[in-house]
Amino acid sequence: MSKHQIAITFLVLFILPLMFACGPGPGKDKVPPATQASRGLNAESVTETVTRIANTSAESVNGRKVYSVSCLLCHGKNGDQKANNAMDLTTSTLSLEERIKVIAFGRKQMTSFQDKLRDPEIKAVAEYVATLRKDVQ
Ligand code: HEC
Repeated sequence: MSKHQIAITFLVLFILPLMFACGPGPGKDKVPPATQASRGLNAESVTETVTRIANTSAESVNGRKVYSVSCLLCHGKNGDQKANNAMDLTTSTLSLEERIKVIAFGRKQMTSFQDKLRDPEIKAVAEYVATLRKDVQ
């Protein structure tokens, strides 16, 4: 090996890996630790969001209208349509908080409505779906 080749081998084997290890680049430290929480993925923030929505005043919102726009497609007018594997809302026994959680965060084929509806709209529609229950009518 010539001196030149030895120098290049040294460069490739030692210097370049060092540059990648220490130099700037997409380091792990750059991901902010709050990413999960800000997406509502940890248990604590799910509870916080559900509590916040449950404590919101929904008086100014017509839950039936929100339902017609956002929920009718799968759950149907009376709540028992079961399209796209939707659950029958006429026999659902979830509490207000549990309904808010499903609506805000979604479950299986049901999409999350957290970013599509405002807090009062989520609460109003969660209250409205309880009126679809068979035992209520
Ligand atoms: C894309 C179809 C779809 C839309 C739109 C949809 N849902 Fe659902 N919903 C589902 C599915 C599927 C399930 C069952 C999820 C599961 O199996 O865990 C479900 C479950 C639920 C449950 C839980 C019932 C129980 O007893 O566990 C509630 C409450 C509910 N939906 C309310 C709503 C409301 C309110 C809206 C409108 C804001 C809505 N859904 C819009 C598909 C939908």
